[in-house]
Amino acid sequence: MSKSDKNFDRFFEISEKLICFTRHLWREFWSLIKQSGPMLLMMSLSGALTASIIYFQFDQNLIKYFKLHRFYPVGLNHIFYLIGVSMAGFIFIPVIQASRRLKMLKRLTQVFMDAGLKSPTGQLPHFISDTEIDCFTRRLRVSRNNFPLRSFQNAKEVLESGLCVYIDEVEENRERGFVDIVYSQKRLLEQFAIENIKKIPSGHFIVGRSRVQTITVKLSDVPHLLIAGQTGSGKSTFLRQLITGLYLNNPQFNFLLIDLKGGLEFQIFKNLYRIKVFSDVERAVLKLNELSTKLIPSRMALFNEYGVKDLEAFKKSILGKEQKTLPPTDMNRLIIVIDEAFEMFMSGGKMKSAQVEMARTAAHKIAAQGRAVGVHLVIATQRPDRFAVDPQIKANLTGKLCFRLPNLASSMTVLDTGRAKDLPNIKGRAVWQESMDELEIQTPLLTEEDAKTLLDEVRNLKSDTLENEDTKNQAQQNLILEDVFK
Ligand SMILES: Nc1ncnc2c1ncn2[C@@H]1O[C@H](COP(=O)(O)OP(=O)(O)OP(=O)(O)O)[C@@H](O)[C@H]1O
Ligand SMILES: [Mg+2]
Repeated sequence: MSKSDKNFDRFFEISEKLICFTRHLWREFWSLIKQSGPMLLMMSLSGALTASIIYFQFDQNLIKYFKLHRFYPVGLNHIFYLIGVSMAGFIFIPVIQASRRLKMLKRLTQVFMDAGLKSPTGQLPHFISDTEIDCFTRRLRVSRNNFPLRSFQNAKEVLESGLCVYIDEVEENRERGFVDIVYSQKRLLEQFAIENIKKIPSGHFIVGRSRVQTITVKLSDVPHLLIAGQTGSGKSTFLRQLITGLYLNNPQFNFLLIDLKGGLEFQIFKNLYRIKVFSDVERAVLKLNELSTKLIPSRMALFNEYGVKDLEAFKKSILGKEQKTLPPTDMNRLIIVIDEAFEMFMSGGKMKSAQVEMARTAAHKIAAQGRAVGVHLVIATQRPDRFAVDPQIKANLTGKLCFRLPNLASSMTVLDTGRAKDLPNIKGRAVWQESMDELEIQTPLLTEEDAKTLLDEVRNLKSDTLENEDTKNQAQQNLILEDVFK
């Protein structure tokens, strides 16, 4: 090869790299423009900074100071210089992003080769995008390049060690010919067991383990919960753990469990002091109605009388006062759990429309007013549409635990984001959303046998204390709750 041919090749190589870089630069620039938020702010700030350097002639003064006037551009060059400097601030961030992307491309090429994802014609999957899902998780999209999904799944370990990440899920989109690799820098456990369920702080419950910590929530901060997810994703298992944890650590809480999936899920909670299990939907609706029309108004009237705004304030206000001045009630929290809400909130089948209306009105009232009076609502459903969970009720269910859902629409209904559709197919994996925060978590696994063992210990114990307490506090029994617990 002659010298000129070599130069020619070199020229092509450099221009190819330059074009490639410019393309990435443009892509980054465009995506940053589209993004609002901190990146755009940083771009604008750096742009404003360079513009003010020119405006206040800092550059000229600096050049004069170092006696380098002859290098300062004049004439047409000066115009190019001004355009260049004023643009520099804006393109600074995209340049960094683009060079990062190129670095990643290089690394990916090597990793795909190591993982054996190279076709007989020597082609590798192409990088398409790498976007943020949440603060811990990202989605890398690459072309399938005719490789079956299995090849990517088999290469998971090589990809993980090559890219120094933990891969949660590999999904394909056959129609559009790409593969999504959902990954994170921090591992999220595939199974999480609470170390000692009897030691959860009083009034708190555990929602799961995030990539960095165990998420414990105070019931009075997140008084009502919506739990959604496709069949077999972990809703009832979560409820089992939630009820057991709250029951064991809060000897004064009362529970009303409505099991509309044939009465099997809450079997272990039957015959427990302070817990009432319903599996008949019609009776359950009547009880809900009773609570919303008797218990809530009576507690509210009492709080008005005492001039307090909620249960905690009420307890503080009566603390230290003479026993006889106490109202004739045990003002304790009541947790209402409904497993499979659409059985109750959808007409057709066993439910007549008048009963559905009664259930909805009662649930709405409890969700809206229950917080202050210590009545909590936990609703689980496979079908999170507006028929199963009324938008008005949903608006008051401030804590949302959403397991994997089959499509974007259902995920949007629960979370207002598509996050639940992107969850890996791991049992117990969910998105926890509370106000604006959204986290991917692994929910605690408490098997039915373990829960039964724990509850059996208390079951025998409680029947004794029940009698003692009953005689001791007879005068203070809450008549309305008594009525509900009949
Ligand atoms: N957090 C978890 N960790 C590990 N495995 C889990 C977890 N949650 C659930 N599972 C497994 O998934 C199975 C199904 O869970 P579960 O019955 O809770 O699903 P579900 O969402 O209630 O389903 P359905 O809507 O059909 O009632 C459980 O038997 C258990 O083996
Ligand atoms: Mg279930």
